[in-house]
Amino acid sequence: MGCGGSNCTPDAGGATAFATLDQWCQVKLVNGDIAPESGVTPYSLNTPLFSDYAIKRRTVWMPSGVSAAYDDTNVLSFPDGTVLTKSFGFADDLRKTQPTITWVETRVIWKTAGAWQAITYRWDSAQKTATANPGGEVVPLSFIDANGNPVSANYLVPSSPQCAQCHNSSEVLQPIGPKARNLNRDNVYPDGNTQNQLTYWTAKGLLTGAPDPSAAPKLAVWNDPSTGTLEQRARAYLESNCAHCHSPTGEAYTTGLFLSTLETDPFSYGICKHPVAAGPGGGGRPVDIYPGNPTLSVIPFRLESTEPSIAMPQIGRSVVDTAGLQLVTDWISSLTGTCGS
Ligand code: HEC
Ligand code: HEC
Repeated sequence: MGCGGSNCTPDAGGATAFATLDQWCQVKLVNGDIAPESGVTPYSLNTPLFSDYAIKRRTVWMPSGVSAAYDDTNVLSFPDGTVLTKSFGFADDLRKTQPTITWVETRVIWKTAGAWQAITYRWDSAQKTATANPGGEVVPLSFIDANGNPVSANYLVPSSPQCAQCHNSSEVLQPIGPKARNLNRDNVYPDGNTQNQLTYWTAKGLLTGAPDPSAAPKLAVWNDPSTGTLEQRARAYLESNCAHCHSPTGEAYTTGLFLSTLETDPFSYGICKHPVAAGPGGGGRPVDIYPGNPTLSVIPFRLESTEPSIAMPQIGRSVVDTAGLQLVTDWISSLTGTCGS
């Protein structure tokens, strides 16, 4: 275990979290960017979560001799000893191809004795050390967005209990992103090679039981029309940003609004569905999705709000994702039908 110098060995951790990120030996900062340590695999997702325009880097590591089991629908089944990290940084100007990135936090979840644990590490302003921050923090940030507009965000570094709000499924902490459909894409690896992630993970011994990628499910890329229809992309966006809570096993199960792309019942994903609770969160709109009419639909109302009691997601967003809002609005506008009285 331990880093400090140029050589370290990735560590699976134990019952309690290390005090500093470098003790995990999973990632380090090299030339202003997050880089995986030797033996640690970076990964990306077809449609990621929006977090106030944060730039994100994700990694996976497992001890040698164990691997994850493929699953067609759920998160891959990871073995004890797995460590997943996700780092959040902010670019000074999103129009730049080589922006200056300030790294704010690196989140770690790890599986030990059959259970996942979660904690985040806060990078210092010198960008040298990241230290455990179980209590969370609100970080005021400002940057230029992709359209050249200045943005001010109150970015939330979540506390450890807040991790559970999104990561709990039936009240048990779980990873969210590494599902076959979200991983089934090409990734550019540090050695310069481009390969499908399911193929790469299998070749590296990280994954067993995966079919050829052409036979595996694939989530649309929300902002790439070549990967799916308007509906497929809007539903991919709603899955990645909302379904961890909006599922029968998530925090928002009582709403009956289920936003996974696997949900086939239109009523369950919001079409003509009345919100369960009346009040400001409904904005006076009758249903979650009114076909052809975004202004009668609750979902865009909650996407365009930054009011804490109204905004969705409930946590983890302080500014509006204008492109995501546009996508969902366009999809609702494209739907035909009527909800009756
Ligand atoms: C607002 C909901 C939300 C909160 C709060 C949240 N996460 Fe996540 N997290 C997600 C989603 C959604 C993903 C998968 C999508 C992605 O990576 O973009 C994810 C991904 C991750 C990953 C990569 C592995 C995986 O599960 O996909 C890690 C590690 C992680 N989160 C750690 C944490 C930790 C630690 C905390 C608390 C300090 C936390 N998260 C709080 C929603 C959340
Ligand atoms: C951290 C958990 C969490 C996340 C993530 C989340 N929600 Fe929610 N959502 C809730 C809870 C809890 C409620 C019930 C209380 C309320 O209405 O505010 C709710 C209610 C709603 C409602 C009212 C639905 C009804 O039929 O009663 C809508 C619409 C909604 N959310 C949309 C979204 C959308 C769209 C996203 C993703 C962009 C999202 N939510 C992400 C927790 C979450």
